[in-house]
Amino acid sequence: METNKVDLPLCLRRVQGSDLGILYEIQIDPLANAMAVANPRTRDEFFEHWRRVLADPAVIARTIVMGGRVSGSISCFELDERTYVGYWIARESWGRGIATRALELFLDEVATRPLWARVAISNAASARVLEKCGFVEHARMMSEETPRFPACEESLMRLDA
Ligand SMILES: CC(C)(COP(=O)(O)OP(=O)(O)OC[C@H]1O[C@@H](n2cnc3c(N)ncnc32)[C@H](O)[C@@H]1OP(=O)(O)O)[C@@H](O)C(=O)NCCC(=O)NCCS
Repeated sequence: METNKVDLPLCLRRVQGSDLGILYEIQIDPLANAMAVANPRTRDEFFEHWRRVLADPAVIARTIVMGGRVSGSISCFELDERTYVGYWIARESWGRGIATRALELFLDEVATRPLWARVAISNAASARVLEKCGFVEHARMMSEETPRFPACEESLMRLDA
């Protein structure tokens, strides 16, 4: 697992209340939502979501900081007795290896295996990030529509080691 693209120091740190404003701006981006096949959260929904996330001991959430700037977030959470990882990178920073490096660092920190991820089939960049970090496709299925996610064909990815 390596990437040579990250050209500034990158670290993960605990999400701070002061990060949420910029993380909200990052998550509202229409292109990012189209890519992730997601409906953006309103400001109120976003802050309520993060209030619950930060109060949930089962969630590990990290802010991705590159070159001193908040560049996204990465977290893992429990769903149906599995632990899933998810991440979101600021659009202006795409294609620089940030998601790959952030996931590498996160996998060093989070020992839970298997670790799972769900990715829309159309989201080739995210599938590639997962593959570079050792995830393999476990299944494909149509997801059910939720208020947050439109129905789409998605890949269930799994990391064992
Ligand atoms: C998907 C996302 C996380 C990728 O972040 P990133 O920092 O640009 O990712 P990286 O630069 O580390 O790696 C992207 C990889 O995908 C590849 N890629 C990009 N677009 C691609 C495409 N259309 N088809 C195939 N591969 C693609 C890149 O070439 C790179 O692979 P490489 O290193 O082998 O060249 C980012 O675009 C994002 O946050 N999108 C919106 C939210 C989202 O989709 N979250 C994930 C939900 S599962």
